Amino acid sequence: MLNVALLGFGVVGSGTAEILTENRELIKKRVGQEVNIKYILDLRDFPDSPFEKLIVHDFNIILNDPDVSVVAEMMGGSHPAYEFSKAALEAGKSVVTSNKECVAKFGDELLKIAAKNGCRYMFEASVGGGIPIIRPMMNDLTPVNVTAISGILNGTTNYILTKMSAGGVDFATVLANAQEKGYAERNPSADVDGLDAARKIVILTALATGIIVDADSIYCEGITKITEYDMDVAETFGYSIKLIGRFEKTKDGKILCMVSPRFVSANNPLYTVNDVFNGILVSSDMLDETMFYGRGAGKLPTAGAVVADILDIVSGLDSIKKLEWKRADAEDVADISEYSCRRVFTFEGTDVNKIEAVFGNIGQLVVNEGKISFVTSFMTEKDADELVAKCDMDLVSKFRIL
Ligand code: HSE
Repeated sequence: MLNVALLGFGVVGSGTAEILTENRELIKKRVGQEVNIKYILDLRDFPDSPFEKLIVHDFNIILNDPDVSVVAEMMGGSHPAYEFSKAALEAGKSVVTSNKECVAKFGDELLKIAAKNGCRYMFEASVGGGIPIIRPMMNDLTPVNVTAISGILNGTTNYILTKMSAGGVDFATVLANAQEKGYAERNPSADVDGLDAARKIVILTALATGIIVDADSIYCEGITKITEYDMDVAETFGYSIKLIGRFEKTKDGKILCMVSPRFVSANNPLYTVNDVFNGILVSSDMLDETMFYGRGAGKLPTAGAVVADILDIVSGLDSIKKLEWKRADAEDVADISEYSCRRVFTFEGTDVNKIEAVFGNIGQLVVNEGKISFVTSFMTEKDADELVAKCDMDLVSKFRIL
């Protein structure tokens, strides 16, 4: 029998307890031994819960119990999640986690500690909720060189953008509605400002390159400024607007990592990823494009990924055991000003000649409500900024095209 301790009895923690309990027999049959929840650590008591007797408030009880060999950390936030994970790994207990903040900030160190102590640090639930993405990237994509990743990595913002794209509602209204339905946190900043997606693309980038970039240092733009007008332009041009986490390996082997809302064309598989769903498109030298799709958030999908990691440990699969990440140095990271893509600009005004005089050969163009929106050819961030500065008209919005 394998004894696990759950850290945190919130949404994901209670989902993990539910799966391990309801599917106890199925799990036993599939992995050959019983998985037992010995403790659940939380600050609160749960007098009405069937798991009431398992609740403890002192992490040391778990740490000092030699019967506990796996700790599932689902507390969220960096602290004390990091300290508890580190102590558990140093004590030779494997840690599985759904905590993307902790993985993005401390994954390199925690993986090293796990390797040194003959145990494992696993984080399938940290990206894409219930979508198997970490394990496929580690296992199935091991023989290939991943050259780019584009991901809709945040369910909350994808829900908001999907509702906005239907028309007639602005960002603030949809956000309030999403909060009412429990799809968005009361403090939605990490989601709507893009930091949650930044942490997730940083983790995927580390899996692709072995190098972990600081999530707080990458270019990160959220969805708060997107207007109904932008949505109309996207529809007119045949695009949808999605918050995209993007990794690219540049020609000189550097890492480009960024999060921003983008125009996604109808022939891109991410175009149809709607509502709280996530989609991750991985480009590689041998497989071309591989698409991962599913529920990126939510109690049972995320808890299912936590349980999958626990069962991986029970089964003794050891591919991720060999994982090592190096913290990025300045020379590992590409200069974003050289990043090139096509763009959509909207300017205040109706003088198309002025736009053409500055931007040259432009693609689709629409003049509406006293504004001009148009698609550019490929240009770098630096060139785009220079052209905008040169244009004698007020910029309303700018988007990169995926
Ligand atoms: N707030 C996150 C999201 C939860 O909306 O995707 C899952 O990481």
